[in-house]
Amino acid sequence: MTKTTITPLHLLKSWPQFVATVQNAPLNPNSLRLIEAAGLTVDLSTQRCSSKWQHAICNLLTERNFDAQRQALFAGGICNPTENRPAWHTMLREPQPIAEVAEERKRVLEFVRRTDSDRQWHNIVHIGIGGSDWGVRLATQAFGYAGTWRNIRYVANIDGHAIEAGLAGLDPRETLIVIATKSFTTAETMENAQRALEWLKAAKISNPMNHFIAVTANPDAAHAWGIPPYHIFKFWDWVGGRFSLWSAVGVAAGLTVGSSVLAGLQSGAYAMDQHFLTAPIENNAPIQLAMSGLANRSALGYGSLNLAVYDSRLANLIPYLQQLEMESLGKSVDIEGNPIIVPTSPVVWGMPGTDAQHTFFQWLHQGTEGAPVDFIVCAKEDHRWANHHRQLLAHCLAQREALLNGKTEEEAYDENIKAGLDSKEAKALAKHRKQPGGRPSTLIVLPQLTPFALGALLALYEHKVFVQGIVWGLNPFDQWGVELGKVLAKGIDKELSGAPINSKHNESTKYWINKLKM
Ligand code: F6P
Repeated sequence: MTKTTITPLHLLKSWPQFVATVQNAPLNPNSLRLIEAAGLTVDLSTQRCSSKWQHAICNLLTERNFDAQRQALFAGGICNPTENRPAWHTMLREPQPIAEVAEERKRVLEFVRRTDSDRQWHNIVHIGIGGSDWGVRLATQAFGYAGTWRNIRYVANIDGHAIEAGLAGLDPRETLIVIATKSFTTAETMENAQRALEWLKAAKISNPMNHFIAVTANPDAAHAWGIPPYHIFKFWDWVGGRFSLWSAVGVAAGLTVGSSVLAGLQSGAYAMDQHFLTAPIENNAPIQLAMSGLANRSALGYGSLNLAVYDSRLANLIPYLQQLEMESLGKSVDIEGNPIIVPTSPVVWGMPGTDAQHTFFQWLHQGTEGAPVDFIVCAKEDHRWANHHRQLLAHCLAQREALLNGKTEEEAYDENIKAGLDSKEAKALAKHRKQPGGRPSTLIVLPQLTPFALGALLALYEHKVFVQGIVWGLNPFDQWGVELGKVLAKGIDKELSGAPINSKHNESTKYWINKLKM
C-alpha cells in the first residue's frame, strides 16, 4: 500500500467554515446558478448557496491539495493507494491515448467492423456483472431502445433463471457470447460462462470457443479457459470495474448500437474531462455538483440522494450511478485508515420519472426526512410525439418546484374552502395537504440523448465522486467491503453441498444451511 498522509476532515480549518456556510445559506432559486459543461446544463439554483459559498469551497479544496490530486488523476499517478495503482479511466477517452490503449481500441473497432460487414451473429449474450455489466446495459438501452438488428441479452446474476432467460429461444449457431470480467474470476460470470459453453456443446456447435469473446484485464486466464487470443480484448488493472465502459468492455454495445456510439460516448466524456481540468472552480460542474452533494450529506445530514431520471431510455443510469457512487464512496475510513467522523456517501436510489412520481414521490414530498434530488432530462426528444415530451418536461419542472416551495397549511386551507369544504373540514384536511418544501435539488439538462451527451453526463458524475472522495479524504477507487461476503459465500456454498458446517456461524445461519442444503 502506498504511504499517504492526510488530515482528518473535521480537523481541517476550512471544515467548520464550510459547515457554517452551508447551514446559513438559503435556498434561493431566484438567483440563477447555471453551469454549461460539455454541452450539458447543470442548474444548481435550487441548492443552498450564499455569497460565502465559493470562498468556503476554495478553502476546503486548497487545504485538500485538490489541484495536485486532479493532476495526478489525469497523469496516471497512484490515486488508488490501497491497491497501489492509478485510476486512469480518463486515458481511455483521450483522442490520442497511449499506444496500448490505442491498439486495443483499434482491435475492438476492427472486430465490430468485420463482424458487421459479415452480418455475423444475430444474438449477443453479454455475460458480466457490476461494472462489467451496467455500462453496456445503459448504452444499449439508451441507443437501442427502439430495436436493433442484433438481439442483445445480459446475464449477470448467479441465479440460474438469469442464464436460462439469457439463452432461451436463441439459435446457438447465430449467438456470440461476450464474457466481460476484469478479474476473470468473478463467481457469477464464470458460472454463467460455463453454462453458455455447455449450451453451445449441447447444440453440437463444432468449435464453441469461436462463439466466445472475452474482455478482461486477465488475458492469461481467458486463454487458459479456452478463448483464442484473437478473441480476447484486454484492459488494464488501472481501470476500475465501475469505470470500464470506456474500455473494450463496451464491445457488446458496439456490436448492438454501433461503434459510433462508443466513439461518441468517449468524446463526450473527454469534453467533460477537459471542462473538469480547466473550468474555474465557481464554474466547474463536477466540483459544484460534488460540493452541493457534500453539503447535503455531511453538513445538512440528508441520508440519501434521489435520481429522478426523466427519460425511460436511461433507466439503467440509476444502477450505473448507484455502483459508481456507493461502491466508490461507501467508506468510513480515510486513506490513512482513520475513522471519518462525518457522514459519507448517501444512499443513491431512484427510478425514471414519471413512474417514480407514482411510486415514492409521496415520501419525497411529505416524508419526515426527504432527500435531495438530481433531476435529469433531455431538452429534445427523439420520438414524434411532442405532446408527450412537453408533458414529461412539465412534470420534471413541477416536481422540482413542488419540492422546493411546498405548500403552507393556510394555502391548503384556502384551496379546501374553494373546493367547497366547510371551515372545520378545510382546517382538518389542510394538515394533511401541507408540504414542507425547502428540499434541495439539481437539474441536469441534456440537449438531446446523444452518445456525446451521455458520455459527458457519466464523466460529470465520475468527477463529482472523485472530488467528494478528496474532500472526505477517502479512496474512491477500491471496494474492499465487497470481499467478505464473497469469501463467506464460498464456504457456505460448500456447506450447502454437504461439507461440515463451520461452528462459527450463528444459529440462524446454521439452521438455514441445514434446512436448505442439497
Ligand atoms: O462487486 C465487486 C466488483 O469487483 C465490482 O467492482 C466489479 O465491477 C464487479 O465486481 C465485477 O468484477 P469483474 O469485472 O472482475 O468480474
